[in-house]
Amino acid sequence: AVTRTFSIIKPDATRRNLTGAVTKMLEDAGLRVVASKRIQMTREQAEGFYAVHKERPFFGELVDFMISGPVVVQVLEGEDAVKRNRDVMGATNPADADEGTIRKTYAESIEANSVHGSDSEENAKIEIDFFFNEDEIVG
Ligand code: CMP
Repeated sequence: AVTRTFSIIKPDATRRNLTGAVTKMLEDAGLRVVASKRIQMTREQAEGFYAVHKERPFFGELVDFMISGPVVVQVLEGEDAVKRNRDVMGATNPADADEGTIRKTYAESIEANSVHGSDSEENAKIEIDFFFNEDEIVG
């Protein structure tokens, strides 16, 4: 089925002017960008978005990183979008990511790993709602 997922192009990628290159890899994987905006996340937004990780040892660093520069938040649509996006992103740690994936190609480290993608359809809906109003999404 055609479904939606949520994606973030992270500060390490926007800093290196890779917004287009990353988006091209998403599009080549069969995903359509149906909403997109470049934002500077606030600390409160980053803490809220990553609240599930707040007990993790890397939480503070992760929040600092995510507010270290602009990000591009996107809604992606396609056949089985969550899985399709996860496949093209590759493993969280670029050292473990397959050849041809976004993280293998561009990520700097497990933290500065260039992209975020929702891990389930349930979380995709929550994450999309966190950043977008329905009238900002045009399929
Ligand atoms: P993301 O898919 O956005 O979800 C949580 C993020 O935490 C992850 O990508 C990485 O950016 C970051 N992360 C995960 N594991 C670690 C780790 N061990 N050390 C630092 N950052 C991490």
